[in-house]
Amino acid sequence: METKIFKPNEVEAAAKLLKQGELVAFPTETVYGLGADATNEKAASNVYAAKGRPSDNPLIVTVSSTEMVEQYAQPLSEQVKRLMATFWPGSLTIVLPLRPGTLSKTVTGGLDTAAFRMPKNEVTLKLIATAGIPIVGPSANTSGKPSPTLAKHVFHDLNGKIAGIVDDGPTQVGVESTIIDMSTKTPTILRPGAVTVAELEEVIGDVKADHHHVGANETPKAPGMKYKHYAPSAQVEIVDHITDFDAAMAWAGAQNEAIGVMATDGVLKNLSVPANVETYSLGEDIQSATHLLFAGLRHFDLESEVKVIFTEGFDNTGFGAAYMNRLDKSAGGVHFSK
Ligand code: TXA
Ligand code: MG
Repeated sequence: METKIFKPNEVEAAAKLLKQGELVAFPTETVYGLGADATNEKAASNVYAAKGRPSDNPLIVTVSSTEMVEQYAQPLSEQVKRLMATFWPGSLTIVLPLRPGTLSKTVTGGLDTAAFRMPKNEVTLKLIATAGIPIVGPSANTSGKPSPTLAKHVFHDLNGKIAGIVDDGPTQVGVESTIIDMSTKTPTILRPGAVTVAELEEVIGDVKADHHHVGANETPKAPGMKYKHYAPSAQVEIVDHITDFDAAMAWAGAQNEAIGVMATDGVLKNLSVPANVETYSLGEDIQSATHLLFAGLRHFDLESEVKVIFTEGFDNTGFGAAYMNRLDKSAGGVHFSK
């Protein structure tokens, strides 16, 4: 199969493919997604095959309107309506109880809930509205690899396995949406993203943050012991304190292999970088670092052979929670220690 690249003004052709049950990757403000007709069980199951994803992991249902959600979910509560009015289109995925029998087990993983999301991307909203069907939307990467923030990342992982990719340039946020479970008594954050706990609490009051996977302070007994995700081939090590970069560079300089370092400009400009160390700028601050994190990991994976990638850590609060959650998984929980 030849994977076709569609420009933003070619969404009609891409929508037609989706209606025919084909897989088409689409841009969002977070990361690129892998689209398929959510009402077509065969199409949805092909998504798992293309990604190499475990089939018990349910898919996000991507919509272009709240009316589309109402066709599948049970009547929306006032709180849910408020969340949608405030954060949609945008980086918030909402888990809701389903009307029985509306979406297949392939999409829901057999749960009686589903995760709904309306991304902030005009081209994709038009794609879905034109197709007239909700589309499943996991990140468009090979399972376990960093999520794609450029169409070329999607092409690298899925060329020949999917019918098309709608290319709308780089994504803005850089990590996946915040997921909030509204099917439980107390709203629970299942994954941190650009929409923060504080922003959510302003709209619906108390939410519970599921810190289970964050683990910035957890130290594994050996590298790779923890479940790895978003992981390049090299070992990622989190550098928690800016002052530790000097020690990291001293260690790196003593190695025979190439070493990578990803940090903000403020850190890089004061660093004495040994000859075998390649740097990748994460820009100015936590926003740009989040935007560039996955692209940087992929850069080291594809374009240079480094043994270790030292990566700057940030405070695990507010917007930083999303970055640290992904970085922690990329590193398998490994922190640099002097
Ligand atoms: O930003 C995003 O959310 C991106 C873009 C492409 O929209 N999509 C994305 O999808 O990250 P994915 O499939 O990689 O992550 C969706 C997560 C999965 O970890 C899945 O376990 C969880 O959502 N999920 C899906 N349905 C669920 C449900 N009913 N209850 C709890 N978690 C659910
Ligand atoms: Mg993913």
